[in-house]
Amino acid sequence: MSFRAELLRRAAGRKARIVLCEGNDARVRAAAERLGKEGIAQPIVLGDGAIDPSKDPRLGRVAQYLRDRRPDRILDGVHALDVGAIVALSPAVDDATRAEFNAWGPGKYDPRHHAFDGTNFIALNTPSLPIVIPPIYGLKGVGFETFSGDGPISYWNSYVGVGQMGGRGNFTDPRIGLTITQTPDLVTSKLPALLSYQLSLQTPEPPAGSFDREAAKRGKRLFSGEARCVGCHQLPNYTDVLGGRTVPFLHDPTEVGTDPAYAARTATGRYRTTPLRGLWQHPPYFHDGSAADLLAVVDHYDDLFKLGLTAAQKSDLIEFLKTI
Ligand code: HEC
Repeated sequence: MSFRAELLRRAAGRKARIVLCEGNDARVRAAAERLGKEGIAQPIVLGDGAIDPSKDPRLGRVAQYLRDRRPDRILDGVHALDVGAIVALSPAVDDATRAEFNAWGPGKYDPRHHAFDGTNFIALNTPSLPIVIPPIYGLKGVGFETFSGDGPISYWNSYVGVGQMGGRGNFTDPRIGLTITQTPDLVTSKLPALLSYQLSLQTPEPPAGSFDREAAKRGKRLFSGEARCVGCHQLPNYTDVLGGRTVPFLHDPTEVGTDPAYAARTATGRYRTTPLRGLWQHPPYFHDGSAADLLAVVDHYDDLFKLGLTAAQKSDLIEFLKTI
């Protein structure tokens, strides 16, 4: 038997399902038909004219299936992603740095540890202070998107694209003493389109039944009243960072009782009031993930500002935070 015939015979014996995702390509459809007819495999074709996953009635079931298999607190891809472990795979990293990167854990990244200019690692700060990777959605109208308000989205995309990923482009910021020049600059011209895309991403709605409506109403009143959250988390985006100004309005770490060490490594040295969005979706909270859940956040402010909230009030406030 020829090699080809033997291969086909074995494949047919396995009765394997094979998913082809470019069903709008006639060649893919023809290949699928042949695979099926000759009994080589059972093809499933995705795309125009075949199965469209985005419209398939089974989509909800599949989404639920995938979600059920994720650890409890990890509801989205970003917070399941262990960037440190991935970067640690680089052969350019020495053993000590590899151990540091591996210690970051899922959902965290330290953008101030080093810069990478496409060829060399440039040491910035040590030891590592990994921060939570924040959600990308719901940033329209916020203005300054990093934890320390160093600049708008495009500033950060440039910092990461050129200064962390080693993309060919130029980045300079005298405030942190970093200048990277790689010509021709292939990054800067892409920033406006990337910005528009990011600003188009909407905050996901909280799942039906995930919060108590009446309690959330009471919590909303507390947010603006006794708990004094609205003093900094101002509507419409739950932040005071912009307030119509062209420079960010920021808070000294002592004002909010969070760790000053990360801020000290940034261009501003202070923290921006985080625009609250999709909170139900992305514990832990604060830049360093120091609050494991919403109760820890509320307890933090209750202690810091001596609010004296009762257990029932804390619970109402949490129900409201779950709706944002
Ligand atoms: C003095 C200003 C100020 C007040 C008042 C304030 N916050 Fe904040 N809030 C901040 C700042 C600044 C941060 C970012 C701190 C950090 O990341 O270390 C923050 C972060 C948060 C976060 C984390 C969001 C995330 O995605 O990680 C939550 C949740 C939060 N605040 C809720 C509240 C609640 C609830 C109240 C009222 C009890 C409140 N805040 C009062 C300034 C304030």
